[in-house]
Amino acid sequence: MQICKTPADLKVLNAQNIGFVPTMGALHAGHLSLIERAKAENAFVVVSIFVNPTQFGMNEDFSQYPRPLEKDLDLCAKAGVNAVFTPQVQTLYPFKEAISLNPPKDLLGFEADLRPGHFSGVLQVVLKLFNLVRPTKAYFGQKDAQQLLILQRMANDLFLPVEVIACPTLRDSDGLALSSRNTYLSPEQRELALKIPKALNTIKEAYETGITQGTNLLALGQEVLSPLEVQYLALVNRQLQPLERVEPNNSLILTAIKVGTTRLLDNLWL
Ligand code: PAF
Repeated sequence: MQICKTPADLKVLNAQNIGFVPTMGALHAGHLSLIERAKAENAFVVVSIFVNPTQFGMNEDFSQYPRPLEKDLDLCAKAGVNAVFTPQVQTLYPFKEAISLNPPKDLLGFEADLRPGHFSGVLQVVLKLFNLVRPTKAYFGQKDAQQLLILQRMANDLFLPVEVIACPTLRDSDGLALSSRNTYLSPEQRELALKIPKALNTIKEAYETGITQGTNLLALGQEVLSPLEVQYLALVNRQLQPLERVEPNNSLILTAIKVGTTRLLDNLWL
């Protein structure tokens, strides 16, 4: 496995049909499932590991974010990754002021309201990474549904020569969606966090018995989530517009929950 630190290191790879998995490291089984899919569909797989400062707000966890680089490299090597790109901040942001990108208005709300500037940072770094890695396909988890929709829009709107591929959320055996931030939870908080998948399951089961009205479905979820701090729990279509009723195969229940100081995202695709 090649370790690339600079754009020049990436250039000499001289690879074609690249499947790309951008990450911030602290890899877990969710990332490994993206890598596996990329391996199945591409001749050459590149993973980037970069904790991107521009997508963190002032009071967020940038400095605390886990950075187990050696372990991550080991996991990538074992997963059969061809090259890992681990740039320094100065390499990706050579200028004091960087060009910025904004998500389109129709994909705002939710995370964009709670984390001002977050998606501009995500767009900025992912566009830089796409330009450096030049992948044919790039793989993102459905857990970060809004990020995924915004990145798909960027690829389409800017005619980027890359296909942005959505991959299903992986869960621990207790149902909690895998996230690098789960490591922040104490055992008691983790127990409380299980209310999130339980609430989504309750909604799914209710939908399967024929309830389609958003207010009814969301009320059932809210009940399960109590007393956790629900930052949002909403029914939207897959263009992120609010829905009154579930539209089959075009709906999403989005939620962000605070457990202690940790924010956890989850969602249900209906
Ligand atoms: O989802 C993530 O881990 C990050 O937002 C990404 C896409 C790697 C950009 O830094």
